[in-house]
Amino acid sequence: MSQKVRELYEQFPYPLRDPHQEKDRLLMPPLDTLSRVNHYCFGGAKNFDEGFRALVAGGGTGDSMIWLGEQLRDVGGTVTYLEPSGASTKVARSRAEARGLTNVTYVNQTISEFAKSKPEPFDYINCAGVLHHLENPEEGLRDLTSVLKADGALGVMVYGQHGRLAVTEWRKMIKPLLAGKDLTEQLALTRTLLSSLPEDNMLLKLGGGPGFIKGLLENDPEIVDLLLHPVECAYDVHGVYDFAASADLHVAAFTGFFGFGGTGKAHYSIENLVRDPVVLRDLGAKPLREQQAFCERFSGAMPLHAFYLTRKDKAQSADILPDAERAPYFFVPPNETFFDDLSTLAGQPVLIEDGSGNAVDLTGGPDLARLLSVFDGKNSVAQLVAILRDEILDTQPIDMNSIAINTLGAVWALFHKFDWMLAANPDGWQKVDGERTLSVRKQ
Ligand SMILES: C[S@@+](CC[C@H](N)C(=O)[O-])C[C@H]1O[C@@H](n2cnc3c(N)ncnc32)[C@H](O)[C@@H]1O
Repeated sequence: MSQKVRELYEQFPYPLRDPHQEKDRLLMPPLDTLSRVNHYCFGGAKNFDEGFRALVAGGGTGDSMIWLGEQLRDVGGTVTYLEPSGASTKVARSRAEARGLTNVTYVNQTISEFAKSKPEPFDYINCAGVLHHLENPEEGLRDLTSVLKADGALGVMVYGQHGRLAVTEWRKMIKPLLAGKDLTEQLALTRTLLSSLPEDNMLLKLGGGPGFIKGLLENDPEIVDLLLHPVECAYDVHGVYDFAASADLHVAAFTGFFGFGGTGKAHYSIENLVRDPVVLRDLGAKPLREQQAFCERFSGAMPLHAFYLTRKDKAQSADILPDAERAPYFFVPPNETFFDDLSTLAGQPVLIEDGSGNAVDLTGGPDLARLLSVFDGKNSVAQLVAILRDEILDTQPIDMNSIAINTLGAVWALFHKFDWMLAANPDGWQKVDGERTLSVRKQ
């Protein structure tokens, strides 16, 4: 770790967090929500118990450590928080203390120092916003892999090359002016420029408008991290796959991140972005990573990539029907009137929404309500096929089993698209999303 980076995070612990706020809010980084980790990395089969070991590498001021610690505290799982910055650790520790979290161990080391100490391996390693700041990110990823259990998984976030062009251009622009200035002086200069930003500057688009710049001007660590970091690189989709391969790992799934929707994975799906059927068909014939790479440049709005990495290739299985013994469940729970509303709107076009801009359109009616109500987290995929075949689709005259499987697959595809449904063991880890609920609206 370079001296400059070390000093930066001592002076500006990142992200800016106030431990007093812990009593009012719990931040839940979507990458580390264990229902997702279970689904995408462990095929829904993980038992989160006292043996479960999570590592947060480059934990900063503690967002992921707190969220993992909270989810694991009741089952006795533990979190190791690894962070070289004493100032960041101080904030993270105060936050954990404010919550009474006792299942966290604090380690004041770099990733490479920690790997050399040969700790007992981990089930899940979070490393968000860290590897792209290393002099040698591949070495960092290999070090993390060396402390991962054989069936373990990583949740990683790195900068996105294409969606971050505004930052790259800004850095080119300002570089000649930074020479000879220390970080405090560089920050002052950057603040001056941001305060009178021309309205067509690309940074405004990156952040979604003037509110972004106002927020930046109230958050010095964010300005420093975003615009003045001495060591950084960025990846496009192909770069992410190559980066994973450099440590013999596979991309199990792309997912969401703060400020990029809890459901970022839909951004990587051609079905969500491309309307033209011919283009869609041609793209559909390409390998998955080509499709995702197309989405990155077509959407133009991916300033970062958040993804899960596993030793075995699980990408193909993530989006097809879960294994027969798993139970699909509503990770985003239907609201109180969901099933009644669906029944009442019989034969009418309806929108199912999750309150964060994601929607699916269907035709309402009691049959759809009944069909969705059997996804209760208790029925396994095999049982769902039997229920569909024998109780719901039993009036059809043809091969009921294949109709049942196809119907199940269609429902799953629709409701898995935005993580509204995930899968786990029938008696397994099925904690629901604390932030969204599903509702029905007449179109
Ligand atoms: C941008 S912050 C991200 C913090 C946190 N992961 C998050 O997402 O909120 C990067 C963090 O990585 C830490 N870091 C930088 N180089 C590191 C290294 N070689 N080993 C471990 N941590 C490192 C920094 O001290 C800093 O706290």
